[in-house]
Amino acid sequence: VAEPRTVLCVDDNDAQRDNLREILGDEGYRVLTARSCAEARRLAHSGFDVGLVDVRLPDGDGVALAAELRQLVPDAQIIMLTGFATTESAVAAVRAGAWAYLLKPCSTPDLLVAVEQATRQLAHVEERRQLARRARVAEKLAAIGTLTAGLSHEIKNPLNAAALQLAVLERRVRRLGPEAADLLGPLELVQAEVTRLNQILEEFLEFARPRELAKAPVDLEALLVRVTDLLAPQAEQAGVRLVVDGEAVPHVSGEPGRLQQAFLNLVLNALEASDEGGEVCIRYRHDGDAVTVAVEDSGPGIAEDVLPRIFEPFFTTKPGGSGLGLPLVHSIVELHDGSIGVERREEGGTRFVVRLPIK
Ligand SMILES: Nc1ncnc2c1ncn2[C@@H]1O[C@H](COP(=O)(O)OP(=O)(O)OP(=O)(O)O)[C@@H](O)[C@H]1O
Ligand SMILES: [Mg+2]
Repeated sequence: VAEPRTVLCVDDNDAQRDNLREILGDEGYRVLTARSCAEARRLAHSGFDVGLVDVRLPDGDGVALAAELRQLVPDAQIIMLTGFATTESAVAAVRAGAWAYLLKPCSTPDLLVAVEQATRQLAHVEERRQLARRARVAEKLAAIGTLTAGLSHEIKNPLNAAALQLAVLERRVRRLGPEAADLLGPLELVQAEVTRLNQILEEFLEFARPRELAKAPVDLEALLVRVTDLLAPQAEQAGVRLVVDGEAVPHVSGEPGRLQQAFLNLVLNALEASDEGGEVCIRYRHDGDAVTVAVEDSGPGIAEDVLPRIFEPFFTTKPGGSGLGLPLVHSIVELHDGSIGVERREEGGTRFVVRLPIK
C-alpha cells in the first residue's frame, strides 16, 4: 500500500485551514497546517509532497515562501492560493516554482483536482529519477564490463604459460612410457579445462573490444570453406558429414576474422547438435541486396521453451557450455548490419539463417 501523500496547507485564516484539513483529510491525504511562514518552514523540514500556500501571510509573502519551500523540498509541488486574481501574482508564483495557482474562494472539486494533478506530477518526477538511476546502473555495468575485459586480458598470459608447461609435461609423461599411462588422463583433463578457460576469455574479450569493424570486401565462399576445414576434425570425430553448398555470390562488406568466428560458432553448435551419421550443411546464396548463409543440421531441433533464450548471454543447455556462442554470433551479425534468424526444418533439425548486406 502506497504511503498517503502529505499536503502542507499554509493559510492564516482559521476557518479556511480547518476547511482544507477536512476536505483533504477525507480524500486520504495526510494534512499539515501552518498559519504563518515561520510555522510553514518548521513543518516543511520533515518533508511534504504538495504545498497549498496562501499568497498573503501575516509574517511575509507567500510567493517568497513558495520559493523557500521548493529549496527545502525540491520535489514538492506547490499550489498558490490567491485571493486577488492578478496576472502578476500568478506569474510571480510560477516564477517562484509554484506548480499551479487557485483563485480564492475555490470550490472543493477544483481544489481536489489541483492537488491530485500535483501528486501525479510528483509521480512523474519520481519516475524520471528512477529512470536516471537505472541509467546510472547501466553505466556502472558498462564500467564493470571494461574492468572484466582488462582482467580477462591479464588472466590470458598466465593461462597461456600454464598451457605451454602442460604441453611440456605431457611430452615428458609420454616419454616415460606405459608405466606412466595413468598420469595422462588427469593431464589431458587439465589441458581441456585450460583450453575452455581460454575460449571463455576470448569470447568475453570479443564483447568488450571496441566495436568498430575494419571492413573490407569478404569472399564468403572462401571463408565458409575455411570454416569447414577448421571444423573437419570435429565433424569426423562426431561422425557427421559437413558440406558447403552454393552458387557464386558477390563479396559482402565486413571483417573476415569476425565473420569466421560467427560461422565457426554456428557450425560448431550444429555439429554438437548432430548425432552420428547426421549431416550439417552450409548453404549460401545471393538474395537481392544481401547474401544469406544457412547453417542446417539434422539434430533434434530446439525445444519450444529453449528457443526464446538462445541468444541470451550465458544461456546454455550443454553441461560444458558457456552460453556465449550465439550472443557473440548475434553481436557480430549486428555489427555487420545483418540479421540472424532461426527456424525449425521440416525434415527435422535446425536452420540458422544469417543475412549479410552486400553494400
Ligand atoms: N543447432 C542447434 N540445435 C539445437 N540447439 C541449439 C543449436 N544451436 C544452439 N542451440 C541451443 O542454444 C544454446 C545456446 O547456444 P550457444 O552457442 O550460445 O551456447 P553453447 O553452445 O551452449 O555454449 P558455447 O557455444 O559457449 O560453448 C545451446 O546450449 C543449445 O541449447
Ligand atoms: Mg555454442
